[in-house]
Amino acid sequence: MKSVKINASRSYEVLIDKGLLTRAGALMSALLPAPRTIMVVSDDTVFSLWGEKLTASLKEAGYTVKEFVIPHGEQSKTPETLFALWNALAAEGLTRTDCLAALGGGVVGDIVGFAAATYLRGIPFLQFPTTLLAMVDSSVGGKTAVDLPAGKNLVGAFHQPVGVFCDTDALSTLPSEIFADGCAEVIKYGYISDPTLLKMLEKDFSADPDEVIARCVADKRDVVEADERDTGVRQLLNLGHTAGHAVEHCSNFNISHGSAVAIGMMLMTRAATNSGICDPAVLPHMEKLLTAYHLPTACPYSAKELTAVAMGDKKRNGKRITLVLPRALGESILYPIDANELEAFFAKGLEA
Ligand SMILES: NC(=O)c1ccc[n+]([C@@H]2O[C@H](COP(=O)([O-])OP(=O)(O)OC[C@H]3O[C@@H](n4cnc5c(N)ncnc54)[C@H](O)[C@@H]3O)[C@@H](O)[C@H]2O)c1
Ligand SMILES: [Zn+2]
Repeated sequence: MKSVKINASRSYEVLIDKGLLTRAGALMSALLPAPRTIMVVSDDTVFSLWGEKLTASLKEAGYTVKEFVIPHGEQSKTPETLFALWNALAAEGLTRTDCLAALGGGVVGDIVGFAAATYLRGIPFLQFPTTLLAMVDSSVGGKTAVDLPAGKNLVGAFHQPVGVFCDTDALSTLPSEIFADGCAEVIKYGYISDPTLLKMLEKDFSADPDEVIARCVADKRDVVEADERDTGVRQLLNLGHTAGHAVEHCSNFNISHGSAVAIGMMLMTRAATNSGICDPAVLPHMEKLLTAYHLPTACPYSAKELTAVAMGDKKRNGKRITLVLPRALGESILYPIDANELEAFFAKGLEA
């Protein structure tokens, strides 16, 4: 079993191993001993595949288990779902000594985290991430949120879990394109700060992912511990995301998040290379690695289209934007520019 300790405003461990869902009851007992009630929240797809394993283990350890299942997909990450969950918690009479457990990907984790941050002004919650993205990214770091019609993650809170259990067996049922989406975030950590991870990724890690997941969690921990509330170095985690979000929007969300981040990383790396900021060895290395993990690298949109959605109707004058740019293999930097320069910068990322 691999374990990564996170020392944020609350300290907790991320455990990574096969079979953790089956052992959840025993693992939980060390953190929040029974008797108490655990509301297990999941989406319909994940719950039908993995719900029974988790709930059976918790019941066996003496917990009272309640279930709340939402339809799968980003369209569930709304204030309406949150409202229904709050009401379910109240109807079941959960108190501040009880807890919530998120079984699923980032959508379930983000809603459950926000419900736990707000119900009774904050109750404990646990993460049982079941996508690669949730294991390496969303379940760690304490950001929770729901979406509004005006945009993603517009309402939320910082609330750290009491424990994160990554059962890598769960990845066996994950569709390959959703696994590939998570690979984009894994690869991202390598180019932000981790040349050793880049070396590890040269060999396909999908059959035995525990070590790579632990490495990514430790990488995320390092930035979260340095900047929990995201006002400085935590922005490094946005490598590929400024352009990537623009790509997602331009495609009307037909290009998945991971694919868009892969395209965004390539674009920013090419722009940084053409501007003399980045070592020319990085771009071909990145293209090869992303392609090996079945991720796209070419951007189908123009700099003008990307800038229009990246800036929305925000006023550009005087506004600064912090870009994340690779500088060398396994090293990225924060690079503030004037918003007026963004289109020209994107254009450099689309040159040959
Ligand atoms: N809080 C953070 O720091 C943070 C960071 C990154 C992303 N996020 C959020 O995470 C969300 C994306 O997370 P995601 O990619 O995990 O999406 P997701 O939760 O929608 O999961 C993707 C799909 O995979 C299915 N699935 C999940 N686990 C499965 C399994 N083991 N077997 C079969 N199917 C399975 C789900 O039912 C869903 O349809 C976004 O809402 C994003 O905003 C949050
Ligand atoms: Zn991302």
